[in-house]
Amino acid sequence: MTLAVEVRRARSEEAPLVVSILREAAVWLEQRGVPLWSDGELAPETIRHDVDEGHYLLAFSGELAVGTARLALEDALFWPEAAADEAAYLHRLAVRRSSAGGVVSAAILDWALAHAAGLGRRFLRLDCDAERPELRALYERCGFAFHSELTVGPYFVARYQKATSGNAFKGRAEHSAEYFGSTRDHWWNREFLELIAKRWRFEAVREVLDVGCGVGHWGMLLATVMPVGTRVTGVDREPQWVEQATARARAGGRGGLFSFRPGEAERLPFADDSFDLTTCQTVLIHLPDPARAISEMLRVTRPGGLVVVAEPNNLAESLLLDSVTHRASIDELVELVRFQLTCERGKLALGEGDNSLGNRVAGLFVSQGLERVEVYVNDKATAIFPPYETEEQRQFSEEARDRVARRFWNWSEADTRRFFLAGGGAEHAFDAHFARGLAARERIVGGLDDRSYHGIHGGGFYLVAGRKGPT
Ligand SMILES: C[S@@+](CC[C@H](N)C(=O)[O-])C[C@H]1O[C@@H](n2cnc3c(N)ncnc32)[C@H](O)[C@@H]1O
Repeated sequence: MTLAVEVRRARSEEAPLVVSILREAAVWLEQRGVPLWSDGELAPETIRHDVDEGHYLLAFSGELAVGTARLALEDALFWPEAAADEAAYLHRLAVRRSSAGGVVSAAILDWALAHAAGLGRRFLRLDCDAERPELRALYERCGFAFHSELTVGPYFVARYQKATSGNAFKGRAEHSAEYFGSTRDHWWNREFLELIAKRWRFEAVREVLDVGCGVGHWGMLLATVMPVGTRVTGVDREPQWVEQATARARAGGRGGLFSFRPGEAERLPFADDSFDLTTCQTVLIHLPDPARAISEMLRVTRPGGLVVVAEPNNLAESLLLDSVTHRASIDELVELVRFQLTCERGKLALGEGDNSLGNRVAGLFVSQGLERVEVYVNDKATAIFPPYETEEQRQFSEEARDRVARRFWNWSEADTRRFFLAGGGAEHAFDAHFARGLAARERIVGGLDDRSYHGIHGGGFYLVAGRKGPT
């Protein structure tokens, strides 16, 4: 059962609760030989003062206060070089041992991130003892990127930050730049990937190839369910993404096990039988000849190794009946589907791939000679409902608003027109179709604004695996 956690600012009378959670954490750390806070730092008068000033948060599971943290708007000690107003800073994150496990910490971090965003700060930052790998891993799992290490007096800390904004790459010319926003960090349930790792015996994997790696989202995520020490090589057609992926891996402290290089899925720059697992995510949907890429992935995989791909049916999303579309007329819905399908057919005709290839990947695997082909559906559902407080819901809202503001439908207006015409759509009909598509997105944003919007997104995203037979 998932723990329901509510986070809010601590009230003045709750200062003793804050003190007791911090003390419990301090005693636990001391018993483990990693003392962190001195008694002076946890003096009730100081904490009461900070609680009165609104600096402390409390996390509740039902009636029970289970976690706390201190949120500040400046931190000259651990971030002396930071510009004023660019970040909020989280300290003293502490969770009761009875609620340990990461859920409470994640809820506190989500709340603090949303709060920092609301204040117009670009980052939420924190620091922790650089010698505590589990704590560092927890922050990384929550999407914090390693920034740097620093010695401050007796403390040797690792500094982390998470951007409060959505997509650092939007508007760039490279392939898929519009789709590398932070919503991409929420595509998979970790437990599902752990289950997949067991089902497909990832314990035997040491060398992974991530084809069409982009800025590294998929390879970095998969690595978290691979054996420690697994090496991940990424290859992408865009040199800029290779550079970005390299920088992101380094910033996340993963530099040593990750390497990225330019290359094409249809001509992989590797010898036969090089990898235990060859994979890609949302790449085959962009290729004119996905069978050729699968055959290349098979070639570079060692005998007995795995080819694993994650590819969607994107058209399925256009029949999503959320709080907005369930009221639309049948004609309007059918026109929206017709528009998207026409564009998808055009994209395919232009040699830019079939956006809804997902349903046919297993058949392509078999035709390319893969054995023991198995398919699962990604079990992630993105549930959006008021008051949109989770980080994922916040990112969804932000992306929806940003795209409407930039008249970005599923693609930019220029790309949509190109695809529509190539798919057999008539030039004179385009504006009306595009306006209908945008209006549907605007209604979602309107619903987010007045807190009436709700819907469940997801489904139609397949994970397909096959093995290379012995030679
Ligand atoms: C939608 S992105 C997916 C990125 C990454 N797999 C992920 O899930 O985060 C598609 C990626 O495929 C790359 N790509 C497109 N065509 C390619 C090709 N023929 N060979 C190699 N990479 C390609 C693009 O540059 C882009 O980075």
